Amino acid sequence: MTAYPKMTAQERKAEYARVCKTFEEEKAKGLCLNMARGKPGKAQLDLVSDMFQLMQRPEDYVSDGIDVRNYGELSGLPAAKRLFAEILGCKPEQVFVGGNASLQLMYDTISKAYTHGLLHSERPWCKEPVVKWLCPAPGYDRHFKVTESFGFELITIPMTDEGPDMDAVEAAIQDPAVKGMWNVPKYSNPDGIIYSDATIRRIASMKPAAPDFLLMWDNAYCIHEFEGEYVEFPDILSACAAYGNADMVFEFASTSKVTLPGAGISCFACSEANMAYMERLLTVQVISFDKVNQQRHVLYLKDKAHTLELMRKHAAIMAPKFRCVVDALDREIAPLEIASWRRPKGGYFVSLNAMPGTAKRTLALCKEAGVTMTGAGATFPYGKDPEDSNIRIAPSLPPVEELEQAIDVLCTCLKMAALEKLGV
Ligand SMILES: Cc1ncc(COP(=O)(O)O)c(C=O)c1O
Repeated sequence: MTAYPKMTAQERKAEYARVCKTFEEEKAKGLCLNMARGKPGKAQLDLVSDMFQLMQRPEDYVSDGIDVRNYGELSGLPAAKRLFAEILGCKPEQVFVGGNASLQLMYDTISKAYTHGLLHSERPWCKEPVVKWLCPAPGYDRHFKVTESFGFELITIPMTDEGPDMDAVEAAIQDPAVKGMWNVPKYSNPDGIIYSDATIRRIASMKPAAPDFLLMWDNAYCIHEFEGEYVEFPDILSACAAYGNADMVFEFASTSKVTLPGAGISCFACSEANMAYMERLLTVQVISFDKVNQQRHVLYLKDKAHTLELMRKHAAIMAPKFRCVVDALDREIAPLEIASWRRPKGGYFVSLNAMPGTAKRTLALCKEAGVTMTGAGATFPYGKDPEDSNIRIAPSLPPVEELEQAIDVLCTCLKMAALEKLGV
């Protein structure tokens, strides 16, 4: 097959007629498929359902002498802190174990900065004339929404193969109004990029003009490989501390995609000074989080090695789904030279860059044919992709048979939109 940009007008016209016919056939199937959000599939949820067989005996409700059913232990069960600390490579006393969602802890950290200020704030951020925020993009739409909802000015930082463009970051942080930055350092959403050691070093050693610069380190996919061996990652807390930036960083993680999304446990990790400050604010807000669920997770996951064993079972379910997506793109789209994509080895997404100016049209066509995808632009601040190019594919939820149909539709729609853009 000739690449679309190299076709003559006549060839393109003929190809467009062929692709439109396929589209009509696919549409006639009345499909209702969803590749919109990074939700685990049913087989993954079933994997962990024996969690609920635990905690049958009275002694299962006691952890380090603490009755987990009662109030107390604001910062979480010591055993749950040890579990997260081992996974993240930090110290248990740097870990605060919260409720069922790390996003809530992220929102709350920023909310506290806004209402009360952080440890090194001169004033709460609500008193600042303007707060600016660095958003490596493509990135996680919910991150961007959080900072947008507080009225911050979002600054797009381009992503490179090694993580955020650090020249752009280092230039931007000279401005004291720049108060923070989003990061997903391992298997970034949606690109699946792992930040390089050099990038992490540059981040940890930053000298922002704002004394209360907040490095949001969302390690949502830190143990989520679906292909190859587990990839070690550095402890960002000690990396920042080594450069005199101990209080700059808050790290986040959860078991949403280890056990159950919405019914797992989450944590933040930070310096001991930040921990003392946050606990003073949090103790006003909540007496304690759900320690029964924390205990259930401690008993079920046990330690890092045992948790990684479970992740290999998730990988066995996820890998064929990602292979199905990437193989279809390689087969159907690569020869046409109308899009590029990455081959992640972990995380929950495939990030595809369609021909500029065609992402919206592609996704509108997908919708018409019954395939729901993450909205065009969602991976950029304010939901606006300046190139109208990035498409986030989330293959985890549908079973492989459905995924095959959905990806065929996506390929057809990519072709139609590209041919229309090139002129038919
Ligand atoms: C980068 C990232 N962070 C956080 C979350 C949500 O995590 P939680 O369920 O712990 O709130 C997601 C979910 O897709 C995500 O992709």
